[in-house]
Amino acid sequence: MASLSLVTLPSLFAPNPFRFQSQNPRFSPLSFSHRGLSPRLSNGARRRPRAAYVSAPASDPDSGGAAAGDGAPAAAWLSAANAAAISWAVVWPLILSHKMRIAASLVSLVACTTCTLAMPLFSGNFFEILIGRGSESLWKLLSKVAALYILEPIFTIIFVINMTTIWEKVMTTLRGQIFRRILVQKVEFFDRHKVGELTGLLTSDLGALKDVVNENISRDRGLRALSEVIGTICILFTLSSQLAPVLGLLMVSISLLVAVFKRSTIPIFKSHGMVQARIADCATETFSAIRTVRSFGGERRQISMFNNLVLAYQNSGIKLGSLKSANESLTRVVIYISLLTLYILGGSKVKAGELSVGTMASFIGYTFTLTFAVQGGVNTLGDLRGMFAAAERINSIFSEMEIDESLAYGLEKELQQKNLDLGLLYRESYSEQNQAVNIHYMSSLKSGSDCYSLARSGDICLEDVHFSYPLRSDVEVLNGLNLTIKSGKITALVGPSGAGKSTVVQLLARFYEPTRGRITVAGEDVRTFDKREWARVVSLVNQDPVLFSVSVGENIAYGLPDDDVSKDDIVKAAKAANAHEFIISLPQGYDTLVGERGSLLSGGQRQRVAIARALLKNAPILILDEATSALDATSERLVQEALDHLMNGRTSLVIAHRLSTVQNAHQIALCSGGKIMELGTHSELLAKGGQYASLVATQRLAFE
Ligand SMILES: Nc1ncnc2c1ncn2[C@@H]1O[C@H](COP(=O)(O)OP(=O)(O)OP(=O)(O)O)[C@@H](O)[C@H]1O
Ligand SMILES: [Mg+2]
Repeated sequence: MASLSLVTLPSLFAPNPFRFQSQNPRFSPLSFSHRGLSPRLSNGARRRPRAAYVSAPASDPDSGGAAAGDGAPAAAWLSAANAAAISWAVVWPLILSHKMRIAASLVSLVACTTCTLAMPLFSGNFFEILIGRGSESLWKLLSKVAALYILEPIFTIIFVINMTTIWEKVMTTLRGQIFRRILVQKVEFFDRHKVGELTGLLTSDLGALKDVVNENISRDRGLRALSEVIGTICILFTLSSQLAPVLGLLMVSISLLVAVFKRSTIPIFKSHGMVQARIADCATETFSAIRTVRSFGGERRQISMFNNLVLAYQNSGIKLGSLKSANESLTRVVIYISLLTLYILGGSKVKAGELSVGTMASFIGYTFTLTFAVQGGVNTLGDLRGMFAAAERINSIFSEMEIDESLAYGLEKELQQKNLDLGLLYRESYSEQNQAVNIHYMSSLKSGSDCYSLARSGDICLEDVHFSYPLRSDVEVLNGLNLTIKSGKITALVGPSGAGKSTVVQLLARFYEPTRGRITVAGEDVRTFDKREWARVVSLVNQDPVLFSVSVGENIAYGLPDDDVSKDDIVKAAKAANAHEFIISLPQGYDTLVGERGSLLSGGQRQRVAIARALLKNAPILILDEATSALDATSERLVQEALDHLMNGRTSLVIAHRLSTVQNAHQIALCSGGKIMELGTHSELLAKGGQYASLVATQRLAFE
């Protein structure tokens, strides 16, 4: 399929400068490429997720499309990781899956355009009857007009409902696909892109795509404008082959002039849009950092910053107002010039008896129809350009995406095995070749039970691990780190701040892969396990645990298969993590909502909920990165007891600054400069009198 690019559109057709909302400050040429895969919709019934303590967002039972996992073989979207997210190849099949609605839309479009275009003809007949030249009775004509007045709105409703429904369904599918693709990107993708950028992609950029249909299904816009222009020109030529070309040419040239004028106003609209975005940024930053603003008395600074932006917005708004009025006046000028030309040419023809009064009246009506339709068409082309720019932005983000294959294939396998419907409302098509590749990849991964049994019984070895964060590839955080984390034993990792301890945790959790060297469990490279399985065997509690804005109970149960979690289990885990007491003192107990990122709980409470979450997961490998750092001495002792109990028999890696909490570990590794510098038990390392011993001495001194 040929690529459609903006250069195929006349460069005159800029985004409609007279509609504020649809303006987007960023414009770039479009490459609406044909790459990508063709998602396929079927009308198979979807299963709702099973009822569980953990609530999933409800999906719309009436939405069309099939389940993502209803027996679908490995999806092609995985192997098309960098394919364009929005392309004709993706969108067409989605549209074409609504054949009945497309047919209904086309029929109703023809019908309502016919009604609209018949009206000036009837007006002409009406005038003929009034001056006594008409052949039919006045009442017969009026009843036909009344029928048109009834039918036109009915056909319009059918057209609008069908078009809206088709596009809404297409957009729902696209949103689901794009969200799913973002979710399986490597962690570094999320380091690279701001959250706002990604949410903007799903909301405003996809919103621009959605609006292009919603805003162009009214009369004088989009397809209706196009059909009216074609229909009107045909009728005008039928009515008078002499007048029609003059009128048509005049109107088109004046409309093009208007389009040129609109294009010249684009920079003002762009800067208006940019100021609007900066106002939103300023407000978001101020409110999200309200405590910092308060503590530094920054209100005056924020107010003046906001005021400056609002003033700039006001000035560009006033400029735009003037431009809008100029545009309106220009539209009228187009009509007036056309009418005047018609009066001069048509009037002389009527006087000479070459044209009837009725035809002249019809011509006047068609002049209005044609003017509005041409102008609407110009505006629609502007909106299309805005839509292509949004598609380009989405595609450009996807072009630099790097899919986390082992996560994506693992997720796909899980969806297939459980025949799960995540409400994604679509199933993407796949070629035989893709299917073979995917099956090969998935079969080369170790099975879930292998992963579990190896993680339970084998040592974890970091062998000559080198690592640089992708965004700072020139800085080697780990350079040749070797460490064996013994199975069923507690290994403590200590060392100065910035030494790379949490980086080791991120590699063990497989958020990143080592740039050199490897991590093995029972001798097997961890890369042979899919990441979903690996996530199940590793429990991680870190320095600043993040909770979701659901209830405490749901947070504790997060990540577990929903049918495995009972409220009793949740309470048991909370008790073990010493969280039960504070949870039942909350207003709604386990059903209390914890706020955004758990902000309605204290740091220590958040940590205890996170520990309960890890306890309930019951994974054979446990990683605690400063897991008790936000607890007071009493809670820490209680939680430490729970953790000691939890660590018993599990392969545990504990990171702590307070060395007193790790001195009973089976082995202590001192990490410094991206390497393990010392390894042994507490007493061995003390006896060695190295870096560990001096750290212990410093802490003792500080304590005393
Ligand atoms: N996502 C990231 N991207 C780039 N650099 C990072 C990233 N995270 C950490 N770093 C850098 O890696 C180095 C090691 O950080 P790490 O978090 O592993 O230290 P740490 O030993 O856990 O320190 P602390 O005891 O203070 O928690 C630091 O210099 C840090 O700036
Ligand atoms: Mg750290």
